[in-house]
Amino acid sequence: MAPIDPHSFTDSTHPLTTHVALSLYLDFAISTIHGSAVLSLSAAFSGDLSLDSRSISIRKILDPKTLTPLPFTVSSSPDPIRGTQIVVSLSGHSSLLIVYSTSPSASALQWLSPAQTFSKTQPYVYTQCQAIHARSIFPCQDTPAARIRYDVVMNIPGSLSAVMSARHVRRRQPVPDEARLLDMESRWCGEDRAVEEFTMEQPIPPYLFAFAVGELGFREVGPRTRVYAEAAAGELLDAAAREFAGTEEMIGQGEKLFGDYEWERFDLLVLPPSFPYGGMENPRMVFLTPTVIKGDATGAQVVAHELAHSWTGNLITNTNNEHFWLNEGFTTYAERRIVEVVQGEDRATLNIGIGWRGLVEEMDRFKDNMEFTKLKNNQEGVDPDDVYSQVPYEKGFQFLLRIERQIGRAAFDEFLKKYIDTFKFKSIDTGTFLEFLKANVPGIEKEINLEMWTEGTGIPEDAYEPVSNIYTKIVSLAKEFKQGKMPEEDEVADWNGQEWELYLENLPKSCEPSQILALDKRYMLAESKDYEVKVSFLQLAISSKCREYYGQVEKTLKDVGRMKYLRPLYTALVQPTGGNHEEKLLAKRVFAESRETYHPIAQGVVESILSKHL
Ligand code: BES
Ligand code: ZN
Repeated sequence: MAPIDPHSFTDSTHPLTTHVALSLYLDFAISTIHGSAVLSLSAAFSGDLSLDSRSISIRKILDPKTLTPLPFTVSSSPDPIRGTQIVVSLSGHSSLLIVYSTSPSASALQWLSPAQTFSKTQPYVYTQCQAIHARSIFPCQDTPAARIRYDVVMNIPGSLSAVMSARHVRRRQPVPDEARLLDMESRWCGEDRAVEEFTMEQPIPPYLFAFAVGELGFREVGPRTRVYAEAAAGELLDAAAREFAGTEEMIGQGEKLFGDYEWERFDLLVLPPSFPYGGMENPRMVFLTPTVIKGDATGAQVVAHELAHSWTGNLITNTNNEHFWLNEGFTTYAERRIVEVVQGEDRATLNIGIGWRGLVEEMDRFKDNMEFTKLKNNQEGVDPDDVYSQVPYEKGFQFLLRIERQIGRAAFDEFLKKYIDTFKFKSIDTGTFLEFLKANVPGIEKEINLEMWTEGTGIPEDAYEPVSNIYTKIVSLAKEFKQGKMPEEDEVADWNGQEWELYLENLPKSCEPSQILALDKRYMLAESKDYEVKVSFLQLAISSKCREYYGQVEKTLKDVGRMKYLRPLYTALVQPTGGNHEEKLLAKRVFAESRETYHPIAQGVVESILSKHL
């Protein structure tokens, strides 16, 4: 018995699942999925096979060929991070059939009532499986070391439609036969039900399993791209189609840099405002927060990032979350290469600057827990959602940039192409990457301290703080704020959201409230439609105890569920900065009032922030 992943019960001596056939009945009335899952293993196995699950109730486990029951046990108390272990006794079986139901509190699923949707008339449900939530939708070996293909038959209300990280095969009428295992013939074939079929032919890690069901509409954006959102949100769809018009050019650029696009289609889904991330790279169907659609270049940057995952992350995958930088560091590097071509070098440099700022701040956040300033880190007993940070993104980016600077761009490009081609559809760790690097760039370990970069804490001295006119100018303007100097109108005339974000983030953590008010009076930052700007400003307002803005803080925390905004605002409210009783009460009350509108993952993250300080 040896675990291969600190976040999974999967055992190194067991065969891995290669295919899953799912049959799912979505019951919106009780926020439950009744499902059956046939897991096919890479080899026949005799013994106790362990699977991951979270708040799932198992009805039966059978041999799929004979339908005879297989003995199994469900651990009596769930592990707080990994969930509930299921052990099934197999005797020479190479597949097993599990009949089960999910829980209304399944951590991957957010069920929205009609009132929580744009149209207010139909319900909606969507998934977020990264890092370890797929196990709350179906029992599985929920580790990125196990790559699965899948076929899905999804029974949904006839007034809705479904999208998935998979190829849509067809929509059809339900037939009674397929409901037998679930014991629900009459409901399965209800007049108002429809079945959608999907198939995923490429092997992917379970965290990339994704679907959304609602009253969806779409616009065509490019030859292999549509953008989907709630059909009633027509203006949002139009704005999204405009915002993402350059997607095909970016795919082309990605192919030039990293090799063929292997996933056939690249569709986008704009989710309701409670979506907990900016974007999620679900293959063939990237998920996006609606907050990225604001009519500037940054929406396309998020798409560039999720697109870049088509190579780094989805083709080559970290073997477990301790090597998460292999996903996000490479993707941040790839994203910036795409942005550099389609939006110009200045934009790319500004992004490096914002990233640098973020990295420096994480060093402060983790000053008592330096383990999480390492690229490769120990996550035994650690919830990946709690330690999510910019470190894997920005330190990972810096590491790759360091190599690029050492060997030159042309050589690094060639190396990247070969790396992707060598390891595509594989899950690898930091050691495998380093071996490949040393084999293909002989002598690199003499030029760069690879061990310090991947296993050391903090920011290495040979990291690269960007220099560009605009970056340097903004940072020095921010320094002058302390002496009571605000930027002049002509200095900010051509600033957009990202420039403001960089400026605000470089201001001292706590300022004179009168200065904050004056800054806002002049530049209307608290009212910004750009959430990055608004949240940076509100964070500063909180840490400066500028209480005039607490109404805006409350509204923001209630309007959007993106964790990039929830984390800093709740953290600023509860951080012990002396005499913040009022702020703590505000945090507690707002969370109590908005909790139900957040995705379960965001609920957990906010809970963990509040529990540290309340
Ligand atoms: N894969 C991540 C999102 C993620 C990470 C979900 C870890 C769950 C656990 C995605 O590619 C991402 O990095 N999104 C960023 C946007 C990007 C432009 C940096 C985000 O959501 O902010
Ligand atoms: Zn990413």
